[in-house]
Amino acid sequence: MKWAHKKPPGRVAYVNGRYLPHGAAGVHIEDRGLQFGDAIYEVVYVQAGVPLDEEGHLVRLENSLTALELAMPMSRTALRFVLREVMGRNRLADGRLYLQVTRGAFPRDHPIPDEQIKPTLIVTARSSDPVIAAKKLASGITVVTQLDIRWGRRDIKTTQLLPNLLAKTAAKRAGAGEAWLVDPDGFITEGCATNAWIVTAAGDVVTHPLGPEILPGVTRSVMLALAAQAQIAVAERKFTLAEALAAREAFISSASGAAVPVLAINGKQIGDGRPGSLTLRLQALYGGLKSCLN
Ligand SMILES: Cc1ncc(COP(=O)(O)O)c(C=O)c1O
Repeated sequence: MKWAHKKPPGRVAYVNGRYLPHGAAGVHIEDRGLQFGDAIYEVVYVQAGVPLDEEGHLVRLENSLTALELAMPMSRTALRFVLREVMGRNRLADGRLYLQVTRGAFPRDHPIPDEQIKPTLIVTARSSDPVIAAKKLASGITVVTQLDIRWGRRDIKTTQLLPNLLAKTAAKRAGAGEAWLVDPDGFITEGCATNAWIVTAAGDVVTHPLGPEILPGVTRSVMLALAAQAQIAVAERKFTLAEALAAREAFISSASGAAVPVLAINGKQIGDGRPGSLTLRLQALYGGLKSCLN
């Protein structure tokens, strides 16, 4: 492949039972993941050699697969082993593990094949600079809003991400770090790759309830548990763009950053335009949890 030589030397990918040089790894051209986006994925953040919230990600992977009548390609225990092997072979200390399970290769036809086909399992690793992640947590981002044009089962983590990519591109072109997606009734559902949270003018922490409208973020669920333990009340209810614009604080959560402050929405400053105190408190609670893991 033309770009293979540009990949960092030594990167290793797992594909269907084999550990291969990243640039040489590939799948069949009739893989249904490639043909139809008939595939599920997960991203696990690795910090100082520890995969964070791994169990939550594996549980969600299984839920997504079940929703699409796909079987786990191997047991959870075996998958954990493959993740560690990929981490080891890539000398991954800080970064992301990416897992994708597709329905497998089959002559192109829309219906799910009646016969059992072998699913494709891909695991890759990518290092990232923990200093950059820490800076983002400390300094925050801005967001812009985009119409939520995704399908009706956003709770399934499929690789069909075109609406997310288009919205994220619009955000990037507007100089923002994320796009918040607004449904036709004016409610903010979530970000392109993050869950959305606000602290209202009245001081309530609010995030969209679970359901088909949003992805059940693993970090979101950990943050809710941490908030409950710390007796910080969180309302899981819908909130409008107007409410967000009038909020005291706003933040996003995802595997690559729990409680990243949002300083402005559509150019309108949130609070005093600096990371809010509740946002920082939730960050600290999550960070505390991680340091216990290390
Ligand atoms: C649409 C969407 N919402 C929320 C999230 C955050 O989920 P998690 O905390 O599990 O990373 C993601 C992560 O990829 C996402 O794609």
